[in-house]
Amino acid sequence: MTSSARPLLNRRLAEFGTTIFAEMSALAQRTGSINLGQGFPDTDGPEAVREAAVRALREGHGNQYPPGPGVPELRTAIVEHQRRRYGLSYDPDQEVLVTAGATEAIAAALLALLEPGDEVIALEPYYDSYAACIAMAGGTRVPVTLRPAAAPGGESGQGHFALDLDELRAAVTPRTRLILLNTPHNPTGTVLTRAELAAVAELACERDLLVITDEVYEHLVFDGAEHIPLASFPGMRERTVTIGSAGKTFSFTGWKVGWITAAPGLVAAVRSAKQFLTYVTSGPFQYAVAEALRLPDSYFDGFRADHQAKRDLLSAGLAKAGFGVFRPAGTYFVTTDIRPLGVSDGFAFCRALPERCGVVAIPNAVFYDHRDQGAPFVRFAFCKRTAVLEEAVARLTSLAA
Ligand SMILES: Cc1ncc(COP(=O)(O)O)c(C=O)c1O
Repeated sequence: MTSSARPLLNRRLAEFGTTIFAEMSALAQRTGSINLGQGFPDTDGPEAVREAAVRALREGHGNQYPPGPGVPELRTAIVEHQRRRYGLSYDPDQEVLVTAGATEAIAAALLALLEPGDEVIALEPYYDSYAACIAMAGGTRVPVTLRPAAAPGGESGQGHFALDLDELRAAVTPRTRLILLNTPHNPTGTVLTRAELAAVAELACERDLLVITDEVYEHLVFDGAEHIPLASFPGMRERTVTIGSAGKTFSFTGWKVGWITAAPGLVAAVRSAKQFLTYVTSGPFQYAVAEALRLPDSYFDGFRADHQAKRDLLSAGLAKAGFGVFRPAGTYFVTTDIRPLGVSDGFAFCRALPERCGVVAIPNAVFYDHRDQGAPFVRFAFCKRTAVLEEAVARLTSLAA
């Protein structure tokens, strides 16, 4: 401990404290609650992929430092995946970088591309690492708030948060360096429409902005809709850093294998930052993820269908329990409105919920700079076994009484 009055934590990080996930997971443990707070699956991904990791370990693939950009097998598989799913072509040697999960990709991209004082536009509510990484890079975040466009559980049963394109345009200033986008969007479950993405692309080109697009839930888009990568819009390939993650797509969140695809200059810049963060990670797992990305379409279709059924189960259960439900178009989260339950403070509600009925959820306000905008919203994760979701629904139903 120093004797100086100066705080140990530097001022860029001072506002962030401990994440809500740590607090809520501890609460879940203490109360024996079902944890629908944090977004991790409670079953592992495909057995063949797990076996591929075991094989890589045994055969000595990746047990020593892998190459900085990622092992060639994985970079090639990423390129094939982008071509097969979206018709996008990338050079595996110059236009791909493997990272320690999407988390490192976000950090390295922001550290590489920002100068202190640059402004970053991000869609609020946002994934919590965005604000911290923008701060670490010395940037200034400029939130553009997604707002409910339809009442929860409206006629179609589908809630939706919309991007106000005029607000987005008005947020751009001469200091804006980049837009940090996330679709499918955590926590709202919104999938930006083709028209919204086209407008973002047009704005980025017109104002000469870079875009970092976090597409880790690309394979979790429901009701027959398709994920559309921003990089596929005219003028965007050369100004977009696209982020993917094996953790989300193959249910191995602990392996921390993520990646970016982008034009050579952008990849080189992000690699410059990444090399001093982790240098390399996840050696043997990289080989396994290369195999995973080559799984047949039936895997991806089954993954999506399984989560769609879980979305429907949890959404219906939450509605029955009295929540306003924004049934998500993508991701494995459902955002709810607690006001129909007669309360409006999501923090207080989530802190009390484990004692009241043995379920943990996350107050969406933690994802907002404008906390009042997110106050009545609460997020539940449905990447859990059906039996666990059924039990959670049974417990939550007691709230309706
Ligand atoms: C929107 C979003 N981006 C990135 C991540 C982090 O991904 P990874 O586990 O690959 O680091 C998450 C994890 O919850 C997320 O929800």
